Amino acid sequence: MAEVAQTIDVTITDHAAIAEFCQSHAIDLVVIGPEAPLVAGLADDLRAADISVFGPDKAAAQLEGSKAFTKSICDKANIPTAGYAHLYDKASALAALDDFQIPVVIKADGLAAGKGVIIAESREDAEAAIEEMFSGGFGDAGAQVVIEEFMHGEEASFFALTDGKNIMRFGSAQDHKRVGEGDIGPNTGGMGAYSPAPVLTPSLEDRVMRDIIEPTVKAMAAEGMPYNGVLYAGLMLTEDGPKLIEYNCRFGDPECQVLMMRYHGDFAALLKRIADGALGADEAMEFSNQSAMTVVMAAKGYPASPEKGGAIDLGAQNVDVQIFHAGTAIKDGALLANGGRVLNVTAMGESVTAAQKSVYAAIDKIDFPSGFYRRDIGHREIAREAESG
Ligand code: AMP
Ligand code: GLY
Repeated sequence: MAEVAQTIDVTITDHAAIAEFCQSHAIDLVVIGPEAPLVAGLADDLRAADISVFGPDKAAAQLEGSKAFTKSICDKANIPTAGYAHLYDKASALAALDDFQIPVVIKADGLAAGKGVIIAESREDAEAAIEEMFSGGFGDAGAQVVIEEFMHGEEASFFALTDGKNIMRFGSAQDHKRVGEGDIGPNTGGMGAYSPAPVLTPSLEDRVMRDIIEPTVKAMAAEGMPYNGVLYAGLMLTEDGPKLIEYNCRFGDPECQVLMMRYHGDFAALLKRIADGALGADEAMEFSNQSAMTVVMAAKGYPASPEKGGAIDLGAQNVDVQIFHAGTAIKDGALLANGGRVLNVTAMGESVTAAQKSVYAAIDKIDFPSGFYRRDIGHREIAREAESG
């Protein structure tokens, strides 16, 4: 970021200091990226200081911050989602398990950095997850628990931008959450993604807009908490149609990277219109029809304990390859790994297969001995492309 922008040192939890900085530098627009400051009400405090913000206020950010809140919105707006129970204590949660088949999904209500969901393959595992959540294993996030019916199907993500009233589709993507090839091993923040996700056909997208996104935006407004920002719907494409798994109130990492590769409008101007409540009713989505893919290069040991400080040489890359830095640092002129997910190697192509070819050709030029990556990002769609010739 420092190569293309000026970075400043502020404490993200110090809302007054951020507001003061924005005012003294005449900042036109604040885009709040991650969920924690949204859930903590940074948008509210900046708006109170008359600063233009893209991102939901504290009440609306409950769509990501509380799984039980989202379920209650689904109930009110009749949005298709997994059957569930919302429990406040261990004894009732253990008893509620009788109403669910195995596998069953146990979720800590609050933010848990992607670790608050347990898919229990046996009654014993489900009981152990409930015990752990109510004994503080997930901090405050686990003070309430949602038990959910397990949904079968393929997952896809759909994005929509809204100013609380008008809605603009912002494309689809498919992430790869497991650390290992073939989708095995622990969950991560995401090891690679591509966009669009053709599994979400135009007619399925219409259904997602009609049955999930539009009712959510309406219900939030009716609740007196209009949603401003990006709605990232995690979907399960079940036999009965798309169902909502969860909402995120941000673009998703690494989904954002592939969406940005395809977007070719004036993004800052678009976000500013949304921040100011002035999104047009029928704005065209300015997207490339090409496929974009990004593959995450992570530090060995990720997600549990990534190795820091490994040397990276990016090699001589083609101009159309974009390498987004996530966990890197520059020390004495040398590029080093400085986090779990380190690089996002990103390229476009006429198909997912073609985009994948360019990404792995770029990765083959990168020397990062203490790093690793998945070699099979996009495998579901690539298999379908091979089948359809
Ligand atoms: P979340 O943190 O809510 O995105 O959940 C993490 C992952 O758990 C999702 O991406 C799904 O793979 C899985 N998951 C969550 N809820 C369900 C469900 N009700 N049925 C099946 N899988 C689920
Ligand atoms: N890649 C999944 C997420 O950002 O939540």
